[in-house]
Amino acid sequence: MSALTIENVWKEYGDQIVLEDISIEIESRAFVALVGPSGCGKTTFLRMLLGQEQQTRGTILIDGTPLPREPGPDRGVVFQRYSVFPHLTVLGNVLIGKEMLASPYSGRLFGAARKQAAEEARALIAEVGLEHALDKYPAQLSGGMQQRLALAQALIMKPKVLLLDEPFGALDPGIRAEIHTLMKRLWHENPMTVVMVTHDMREAFTLATRVIAFERLRDRPEEKIRYGATISRDIPIWPPRIAGMASLIRPDRDGPVTQGQ
Ligand SMILES: Nc1ncnc2c1ncn2[C@@H]1O[C@H](COP(=O)(O)OP(=O)(O)OP(=O)(O)O)[C@@H](O)[C@H]1O
Ligand SMILES: [Mg+2]
Repeated sequence: MSALTIENVWKEYGDQIVLEDISIEIESRAFVALVGPSGCGKTTFLRMLLGQEQQTRGTILIDGTPLPREPGPDRGVVFQRYSVFPHLTVLGNVLIGKEMLASPYSGRLFGAARKQAAEEARALIAEVGLEHALDKYPAQLSGGMQQRLALAQALIMKPKVLLLDEPFGALDPGIRAEIHTLMKRLWHENPMTVVMVTHDMREAFTLATRVIAFERLRDRPEEKIRYGATISRDIPIWPPRIAGMASLIRPDRDGPVTQGQ
């Protein structure tokens, strides 16, 4: 289970109202694409789900329990850039989450625990297609490879919720299409709920089970501070996509995709 309940959430920075009265029920295993104009509060919303920001009013629940007030291993995140550590190799980047969890000060794992974590990391690295780059550093990888690495880094912690902030926004169209196939497969195979911010409507409709738009309904200059953005559209995708299940209508596009396809 990994359902999110957002109830009458407001976010203000000083006098500026950024988000106003947001209520969404996100069912477990949904893949929500969040769209909206620049500056409408999409990243702020993701940061609240992550626990990096607190809402000023309202409640956010995960499986019916208030969201912890700080980021934790149940929520993974991938940003457009800079999600991975430049001074660690591919393997080191995927292992670091487990190492820090086991030993927050030394960041090390030993013996059988290290062996098991390394095996898991290698399998996940192969899953995202980076098995040939285990010892490379992020600066030696292309943008698409770095984002694949960032996905593996987040997924090794088995997050209940994966938060993506324009993760593929900086990639070339061809590379993007490839990583969309991978993203779809990862969503089908991992028991997680995904919330992804994107500027690309095509991407939103390719991947999501539901597209939610944030918009500032009152946007005259004198209204900019006093009114925030709220939900303007909430579009379920048809035919429905169900995590782990092939679509009856477009099995080739919407079902679990096996590696190499
Ligand atoms: N830490 C902060 N302190 C003050 N204001 C902030 C802070 N973070 C965000 N804001 C303001 O909140 C508003 C929403 O910002 P946010 O980054 O969430 O927008 P966005 O929808 O993600 O935009 P973009 O599509 O350009 O990434 C902006 O007006 C921004 O200036
Ligand atoms: Mg943003």
